[in-house]
Amino acid sequence: MAIAAQKYHPVKVSYAHPTLIGIVASAVLTALVIVGSRNLEHFDSALFGYTIASVVAFGAIAFRYAIWLQRPATRTYFRRGLQLFFQRKKFAANAGNAATTAATNLVAQRFIFKRGTMRWLMHFLIMWGCIIAAAITFPLVFGWVHFELEGDLGYRAYLFGFPLSVMQGRDVFAWIVFHGLDFSAVMVIAGCAIAIHRRLKDRGAIALQSFLLDFTPHLLLIAISVSGLMLTASSLWFAGYMYSFVALVHQATVIMTLFFLPFGKLFHIVQRPASIGVELYQKRSQEMPQAVCPRCRTEFAGQMWIDDLKKVVGDLGFDYRMENGNTLQDYCPRCKRIVRGLSYANLPQAQEKVFVGGRADEK
Ligand code: HEM
Ligand code: HEM
Repeated sequence: MAIAAQKYHPVKVSYAHPTLIGIVASAVLTALVIVGSRNLEHFDSALFGYTIASVVAFGAIAFRYAIWLQRPATRTYFRRGLQLFFQRKKFAANAGNAATTAATNLVAQRFIFKRGTMRWLMHFLIMWGCIIAAAITFPLVFGWVHFELEGDLGYRAYLFGFPLSVMQGRDVFAWIVFHGLDFSAVMVIAGCAIAIHRRLKDRGAIALQSFLLDFTPHLLLIAISVSGLMLTASSLWFAGYMYSFVALVHQATVIMTLFFLPFGKLFHIVQRPASIGVELYQKRSQEMPQAVCPRCRTEFAGQMWIDDLKKVVGDLGFDYRMENGNTLQDYCPRCKRIVRGLSYANLPQAQEKVFVGGRADEK
């Protein structure tokens, strides 16, 4: 049994669509900044640099995401994930499955826990430190949240210009809110320290890592956090000494990181949540009509999944058609290995044919 020759055509990437998506994303964020800050009434012009960088980085992330979605496997999983999620009859069950995946994989990150407690702690600290910092800084920078002093009462927070509750200056809650960035900075520094320590000691990591991919993100995050803590120290204990210089350093490191987001390792922040769709597809395909292995007659995977796999393999330029009319993907994993083995076993004869009778494809 022979498998036809395999060839690989790199998938052609189209840039026109992603560029448009990137421009639209930047335009939408710009509009939201204008509307959310009540026509820039609550927008602090000193934070213009941060805003421009965020708008550009947001467009670049959307651009890169759109390019990533052009990969045959990603595109198939993404489309199927959405299609299965919005199935009318199973919407409640799908929402439940998606919520479970989000809770275990995105929030609790149980799959990293399986790799080691320290690795889980490392990621937990970095991720939640960054999420807390982003949740505080972006709304403030965009003018979506602002505070106003109300006499002796304390500060009143406003969200999109609508008043929220007043925070007493001496409240424990107010103290935690005002120092939220300091807590997040300590979390990020601790998480990055654990990550760098592992990367300097673990032989497996040393063999695979590169400076740009595996150390730059930590160094940038540490630079942001240390400069942020220096801002707090400057205003609390040094009467604002060097404040504007450190604020500039903080801004520069934040902007560098924002621009690094779409092109480096940190892009996984937006890539990873797509795993919700993949898990949903795997779960639903178990309930669909199953594919039967033509060799051992066992049911081994959802037929839809196998059909999608064949299409993706074809889109990538691989040809796994066999002389008996089947495709390698039609077989269960065990029989696939056997069929492959048999095919390799027949190779010497095929080569002999090449040497004796000339190239098979010339005939
Ligand atoms: C604000 C959000 C996030 C930030 C700042 C972040 C940051 C990082 C950083 C800096 C690393 C490199 C750690 C190392 O040196 O090994 C990393 C690794 C990783 N991240 Fe994230 N991440 C975020 C969100 C997520 C999410 C949502 C997921 C998946 C659900 C995820 C999955 C992973 C995995 C699997 C690794 C490899 C961990 C390991 O080595 O065991 N991350 N992340
Ligand atoms: C890892 C993420 C980040 C951490 C740990 C962090 C930490 C900090 C800290 C501790 C401060 C000092 C707060 C104070 O004085 O009480 C600060 C200030 C500030 N941060 Fe960040 N930050 C982060 C990301 C960002 C981002 C993404 C932005 C903008 C989009 C940003 C914008 C600012 C601004 C505008 C200030 C006030 C500085 C000034 O007075 O000019 N930060 N940050």
